[in-house]
Amino acid sequence: MVSKMIPGFNGLAVPGPTNMPFAIRQAMEVALEDHRAPDFPEFTLPLLADVKRIFRITTGQVFVFPASGTGGWESAVANTLSPGDQVLAAVFGQFSHLWVDLCRRFGLDVDAIELPWGEGTPLELYEQRLRADKTHQIKAVLVCHNETATGVTSEVGGVRKALDAAGHPALLMVDGVSSIGCIEFNMEAWGVDVAVCGSQKGFMMPTGLAIVAVSQKALQARATARLPRCFFDFNDMILANKDGYFPYTPATTLLRGLRASVDLLESEGLEQVFARHHRLATGVRHAVEAWGLRLCAKHPKWHSDTVSAVLVPDGLNANEVIKTAYHRYNLSLGSGLSKVAGKVFRIGHLGYLNELMVLASLGGAEMAMIDCGIPIEAGSGVGAAVKHFSRTAKQFAPVKAA
Ligand SMILES: Cc1ncc(COP(=O)(O)O)c(C=O)c1O
Repeated sequence: MVSKMIPGFNGLAVPGPTNMPFAIRQAMEVALEDHRAPDFPEFTLPLLADVKRIFRITTGQVFVFPASGTGGWESAVANTLSPGDQVLAAVFGQFSHLWVDLCRRFGLDVDAIELPWGEGTPLELYEQRLRADKTHQIKAVLVCHNETATGVTSEVGGVRKALDAAGHPALLMVDGVSSIGCIEFNMEAWGVDVAVCGSQKGFMMPTGLAIVAVSQKALQARATARLPRCFFDFNDMILANKDGYFPYTPATTLLRGLRASVDLLESEGLEQVFARHHRLATGVRHAVEAWGLRLCAKHPKWHSDTVSAVLVPDGLNANEVIKTAYHRYNLSLGSGLSKVAGKVFRIGHLGYLNELMVLASLGGAEMAMIDCGIPIEAGSGVGAAVKHFSRTAKQFAPVKAA
């Protein structure tokens, strides 16, 4: 049976999975291979070493699990903590909530500061809590660097300062699932102990790899950590990885994609990748302002350069916009999760993306909003973004020399 043609590409404007570069697709278009072959380490050892540069670490170790970001969260806590350990966290969106939930299911004692969704990690409250903990019962501090549900970026370096100001030795664990490979992430400079990422966002790959970077200090914490672990045990990975192998069948095809991903990120240059994300995100924010709408992020200091959660006017349902965009215009926008379901739609602007792709998403969002009766002027958001992109085009180093 011939399937019905839907002309044109699906506009993938969700905040992950993101668009996949052709070079990654091509790198994965290989015959399945023997993961115990004598020359397999020639491929894996340099790869594992090179991924460290994306996290900006020179020490510690990167682990690549066949899993999604959630598995990365689990590996972080299971390898470093013991039942009943105290953990400091803040909940201000679905992903910060889910990591706390995972910790509780593991029997950790989580002090989760509940905040309005749209705010970010509360640096002062963190510092107060840490200063008050004179006997250092808090063993880990969690930070959701980029809360994908609300489009909020927190200041990881600020949490490091809070820990240092309090003279507190807790491990600093960061969820960088929707930030690493897109916006500035300086694991070593910020003294991050465990950083968790997934392959389907900044790495521009299919879902399927949890990529976890671990500091020397966190590696040492394994010696006393008593939480149960098997699949995600760092020990097994360390033993096998040192010779370029894995404790179980690795996702070889995805590892080939990861090689291409790291090469692409480094050929563009991480600084340029961050600048590109910032410029595209600023264009989206200009569009939202021109529509007369607001972002869920409550303050510009929290504005995310990878995803914008746009609040629809009271009384209207954001899910209608999302459905209309999908069915009429073949555009996938991100939906509102949990507390903000129906209140926001999300525009993902991360990964393999340029101005034209962003403008297409903004155009689709505009059409869908107009169809749903949201009083915005046709072309207003697209126009505002166009102005921003043309204004900043010259300063922004071109991808191809003229
Ligand atoms: C910030 C953040 N953390 C964690 C996750 C969970 O990752 P996964 O869905 O790959 O398990 C996501 C997923 O979107 C996310 O955005």
